Amino acid sequence: MSSSALLKRAAFAVCALLAIGLVAAGCGGSDDGGTKIALLLPENETPRYETNDRPDFEESIEELCSDCEVLYSNAGGDAQKQQSQAEAALTQGAEVLVVDPMDSKSAAAIAEKAKAQNVPVLSYDRLIENGEIDAYVSFDNEKVGELQAETLSKKLKEDGKDSGPIIMINGDPADPNAALFKKGAKKGFDAVGVTIAKEYDTPDWSAENAQREAQQAITALGNDGFAGIYAANDDTGGGAIAALKGAGLNPEEVPVTGQDATVAGLQRILAGQQYMTVYKEITPEAKVSAEIALALAEGKEVPQDKITEEIDNGAGQVPSVLLKPIAVTKDNVKSTVVADGFVTASELCTGAYAAACKEAGISE
Ligand code: BGC
Repeated sequence: MSSSALLKRAAFAVCALLAIGLVAAGCGGSDDGGTKIALLLPENETPRYETNDRPDFEESIEELCSDCEVLYSNAGGDAQKQQSQAEAALTQGAEVLVVDPMDSKSAAAIAEKAKAQNVPVLSYDRLIENGEIDAYVSFDNEKVGELQAETLSKKLKEDGKDSGPIIMINGDPADPNAALFKKGAKKGFDAVGVTIAKEYDTPDWSAENAQREAQQAITALGNDGFAGIYAANDDTGGGAIAALKGAGLNPEEVPVTGQDATVAGLQRILAGQQYMTVYKEITPEAKVSAEIALALAEGKEVPQDKITEEIDNGAGQVPSVLLKPIAVTKDNVKSTVVADGFVTASELCTGAYAAACKEAGISE
């Protein structure tokens, strides 16, 4: 058991004794009784955080513990801000920090601060490196990159352009997931001999930066100088598609990848403008995180039956849960994201997309 878990357990034992009729103040974690769980998300440009992660996590906590309180903050893409938000959560009496780090390296300082106050830390979706943490919940992120590469390579082959070349628009270099997506994708491209003509890391994962990078690549290679674009997520994919259009290319003829199954990404897929996305089931990610976070907040150990593996984050072996990503093209939008209720037909099938929805068999 970690030292913080031991201390928590000891504190609980003392509280239990006090509860036999003596003073209970200071026990149960907070003055107003409910356990406080801090959820710190990294940014709000990518829709997943406010649309899925936050509500899914809050609902899971509510189901497990009706008098628990979620202290929520979003760093809006600012690592410094996330640091202050973590400090504020600790000051407000958070009994566990669930952190999706804006910058994995500076987040080690957050983990240290929490540790110093015996508050456990769960690393959510992105791994906090070189800092002591109690658990990690995410997807198999290397597999995300492999799925992107396999799906794009297969399409290139169908188009008679087996070896590409492609333009690679990777994620934010401060995000450890971006390195894993890139690693998995390169493995996939190498395996089938798809070559990379130009490659970029995209600060902040922003669509604008991705569009600028893709424009640069297209200018350097010429409109005929590449066969597809690997974009690490749907936002950067949207930027890459805007660059294709800007160069006078038809996005229906140049396959582009993505990730997150955002409404905008899925609509582009239905319209034939984006080739694929990766669906990550955020509801189970948030749910298992809520279960583990609550156990940690109550001074218990990480529930071993949830753990799928141990991952080395540079500061030790971290009990981890890695969920499976799913590749989505026009063919399986209906049977994956729509069937799961991750997006609804009414969100997808608006105005210009009604006909494409019908074609894909999606109806309300
Ligand atoms: C997440 C992706 C997301 C990206 C940008 C990654 O760490 O796993 O789902 O698109 O960050 O926020």
